[in-house]
Amino acid sequence: MPPWFPARFRPRYHCTESPLPAETSPKPFRPLLVGFEQPTWDSLEKEIDFHGWPRKIDDTYTRIRTDEKVIAITFDDGPHPENTPRLLDMLKERNIKATFYVVGNMVKYNPQILRRMIEEGHEIGNHTVTHGNLARMSNTGLRQELKGAHEQILEATGVAPRTMRPPGGAITSAQKKLMLREFGYPTVLWSVDPEDWKRPGAAVVTRRLLSGASPGGILLVHDLHKPTVDAMPSTLDQLLAKGYRFVTMTELINMEKPPVEEPSEEEESEDL
Ligand code: NI
Repeated sequence: MPPWFPARFRPRYHCTESPLPAETSPKPFRPLLVGFEQPTWDSLEKEIDFHGWPRKIDDTYTRIRTDEKVIAITFDDGPHPENTPRLLDMLKERNIKATFYVVGNMVKYNPQILRRMIEEGHEIGNHTVTHGNLARMSNTGLRQELKGAHEQILEATGVAPRTMRPPGGAITSAQKKLMLREFGYPTVLWSVDPEDWKRPGAAVVTRRLLSGASPGGILLVHDLHKPTVDAMPSTLDQLLAKGYRFVTMTELINMEKPPVEEPSEEEESEDL
């Protein structure tokens, strides 16, 4: 069990095994994480329990409300066999925890990279199997994409993803509600998109991320692309120097402050 794992998600029974299956472990391996072990796609028509989330959550996050200098950096479309391990080295060197929205069709070639992510305290989110346009899919297609990637991640790491990001941000509000209800996934978008996939150059990526960063923000980048990973040492060091603390997506969501309630007009007029 990684020590960073919140106590509420640790197994209730005594467990001496590693939470990560060995390369040679027979399949299916025994699920180990309470709250994560149950596939959630069978919960249609059942009562919403938010699948282990400690409180009610929104169906979409582009950022969270907070005054603290916390930020989540998210890497999409991997794992890439060279760029992702190189990025993991950079994150480890700086003790930064990130969130990876992995694609099933990439996971199948490099599941061991996902195990390394979990071992080093990062979080993995669902970015579908094929990276298609979910907004154009039927509910059956949507479920297949999410369930397929969910199973791949669970099989590779023993830890189920808890959030999802729609490829290209393409998603309908009805689909968001379905995914929260059936999978327990809030849809995670972003507050800063440096359009790194257009390969504007590492310096431009860094500049856009730094100018867009704000407390509670979500940075979107892609570990699939080498120039993006090249931009990371400078980006991460400058954000750390500005006082930002990096947290994973579920940590960020759990840090959100409740909305400030505006006093009603009646109450205001009484004060006058
Ligand atoms: Ni993507």
